[in-house]
Amino acid sequence: MHLFLDTANLTHIRHGVELGVVTGVTTNPSLVSKEGKREYKALVKEICALVPGPVSTEVLSLESSGMVAEAHEIVTWAENITVKIPATLEGLRATAILAKENVPVNMTLCFSLNQAILGAEAGATFISPFVGRLDDVGEDGMKLVIDIVDYLSYYGCSTQVIAASIRHTAHCLSAAKAGAHIATIPYVVLLQMIEHPLTDTGVRRFTDDWQKGMGDACILPRK
Ligand code: G3P
Repeated sequence: MHLFLDTANLTHIRHGVELGVVTGVTTNPSLVSKEGKREYKALVKEICALVPGPVSTEVLSLESSGMVAEAHEIVTWAENITVKIPATLEGLRATAILAKENVPVNMTLCFSLNQAILGAEAGATFISPFVGRLDDVGEDGMKLVIDIVDYLSYYGCSTQVIAASIRHTAHCLSAAKAGAHIATIPYVVLLQMIEHPLTDTGVRRFTDDWQKGMGDACILPRK
């Protein structure tokens, strides 16, 4: 499973890419707004320059003609842009138009298998089921990821699933087990994924044992 960062924060994105594990980014209007009043295009261009893979950039229009016009503008900002379009009727129409033009679309705010089926049929490159927000209302968000992955695989669709609205490391594990192609995760969850108390204890024990047995012997030649 590939990992994208779900953020518009340049410092966090730079760090994730340096760690060698972040291959893409997803943004949305809420995440962009968190970065202060910056010009949208300039921020997206900076993000695209940092990341090797797709950067999902959301349209703001609510009707399809506006979405398509915004998408045409957004794709000129960088080569690795994916246009993020909501799973509404207007979004579906926009997705179909853009897919025919080979513009990659991430169908976002997906909360049902029906929406995912329509998105895949319309030609979306990615579908983003929002796991945490379904959990918030007492539904099983990960069950939707499982159902969409099964559906796409059964029918041999090329559309990929981005497990989104990931809130904690257990969500990452479940998304991987469900066969999600990608999980887009907050920076804090990325940092939590590497943590394990037994790793910390193990490093401390190796260091102590070395000092007891080998003193200040080291690997690198002394200067
Ligand atoms: O990728 C979607 C994500 O940004 C939504 O997350 O935590 O606001 O539900 P959340």
